[in-house]
Amino acid sequence: MDDKDRALAEDRVDAGEAPLTTDQGIRVDDTDNSLRAGERGPTLMDDFHAREKLTHFDHERIPERVVHARGAGAYGHFKVTDPLTDHTIAQFLTDTSLETPVFVRFSTVAGSRGSSDTVRDVRGFAVKFYTQQGNFDLVGNNFPVFFIQDGIKFPDFVHAVKPEPPNEIPQASSAHDTLWDFVGLQPETTHMMMWLMSDRAIPRSYRMMQGFGVHTFRLVNAEGVSTFVKFHWRPLLGTHSLVWDETQKVAGKDPDFNRRDLWEAIETGDFPEWELGVQLIPEEDEGRFDFDLLDATKIVPEELVPVRPVGRLVLDRNPDNFFAETEQVAFHLANLVPGIDVTDDPLLQARLFSYLDTQLIRLGGPNFPQLPVNRPIAEVRNHHRDGYHQSVIHTGQASYHPNTLSGGCPVLAGEGAYVHYPEQVNGPKIRKRAVSFADHYSQATLFWNSMSAWERDHIVAAFRFELGKVRRAQIRAQVVANLNNVDHDLAVKVAEGVGVDPPPQGPVNHGRSSPALSQDRQPQSAAT
Ligand code: HEM
Repeated sequence: MDDKDRALAEDRVDAGEAPLTTDQGIRVDDTDNSLRAGERGPTLMDDFHAREKLTHFDHERIPERVVHARGAGAYGHFKVTDPLTDHTIAQFLTDTSLETPVFVRFSTVAGSRGSSDTVRDVRGFAVKFYTQQGNFDLVGNNFPVFFIQDGIKFPDFVHAVKPEPPNEIPQASSAHDTLWDFVGLQPETTHMMMWLMSDRAIPRSYRMMQGFGVHTFRLVNAEGVSTFVKFHWRPLLGTHSLVWDETQKVAGKDPDFNRRDLWEAIETGDFPEWELGVQLIPEEDEGRFDFDLLDATKIVPEELVPVRPVGRLVLDRNPDNFFAETEQVAFHLANLVPGIDVTDDPLLQARLFSYLDTQLIRLGGPNFPQLPVNRPIAEVRNHHRDGYHQSVIHTGQASYHPNTLSGGCPVLAGEGAYVHYPEQVNGPKIRKRAVSFADHYSQATLFWNSMSAWERDHIVAAFRFELGKVRRAQIRAQVVANLNNVDHDLAVKVAEGVGVDPPPQGPVNHGRSSPALSQDRQPQSAAT
């Protein structure tokens, strides 16, 4: 039993064979027949048990997540194997004696809570580390890049990818006009769409999926030196996908295929494991790539910066209650611990706002961090008060800082306190994207070039299937024109399958066969 499991013990309630009661603790002798005036008469308002039972039932549903609504979660633990002491003061990444409890939620993105598991979609890979310094959330996906560069586009993108407004069709599929309309008009989606049309979008199992933090984050060490970092999860079972034809049959026969697979593996003691890896990039190397580290539509090629394995994640315990734990868990990128900080990636910055904001409505007010699954194992002490669902009884007269009345104030911690990295920022207030974000095709080409022949066949087939369903030819042609900037052969093959004219040999091919550093090219200090 780890620290988190112990902390949850007092929240678990097993009705068992004890007497049935109302929420007020009154024992009940009949829960099958409502109180009526005569055997065939009307039901009486006096029936507090029936009213309470129905009222509670009527309020059982909460809003599903606006994205990533369907998911499956599990508890486990993380252990650092190769301490990152030179780069961060985060204890769970430096102290090999620590076993940090975690909760992980895997998800699909576009479908609703009841949609099928095996659809073509991105998968969420969100990890909550219950560290002794407070909760750290790594809220990632199974692809290393994203659709858009700036979070202000997220509502547009999600409106395009979700079922269409008139009829809520398609429930969970990439085959519809709005998505491809958006994609055609936003070339920055191209790299991500290559991943989405690849077999990575139909994983065999959550246990066989890579995970990525996607953004560039920062690690900060005891001297206050910052190193850029990309986080990677590598499954020990290997990365495996279904075949497209299988996904459709499975969706019909077992819509819970991935969820069941995770549950059963853990129930039978076949605990899934992942290696945590990091790509480390010294601050001074920030400008040395031919892409921008702050651009979430780009990877840092491993040929340039290898992935260093640093720790091990094991999932070994299923939740007791799906709603209480998997549905109510709340991940947030701003849940950071000392030694880890964010960067100016404009997608990341928007996320810093959006998660807490949505959780305030989804989980009914500001006290959801008190829910058992969200509660840190680190002590919580502050002057936040009241609000819906407050379950802490704060004692004392004073709930403000500073005060002299309540036996003193919580101490402002010097030692161990979170200190934001004192990055220098300076610039005019403008709405303008940096030119370093302008190349939308090179890495899409890199991805295409890294595929084997049969993987390319699958990508072409996926484009033909999904794009081929789009009713407006102009949208299909626009997407093909964008693909022509990735690879001419790809564009021609897709065009042939979706009923549009093949494009001329692309005048612009931004592709390169191998990743490259810019200008003087070599990183000064190659990270290991
Ligand atoms: C939910 C990943 C971009 C808003 C999620 C979840 C994951 C995730 C894994 C599910 C969390 C869970 O299991 O509960 C990502 C990744 C992104 C990204 C990797 C890009 C790199 C964005 C952006 C926004 C956003 C740009 C908005 C500006 C949301 C919201 C939720 C969500 C509102 C629902 C959260 C909740 O209801 O608890 N995201 N996301 N995401 N994401 Fe993102």
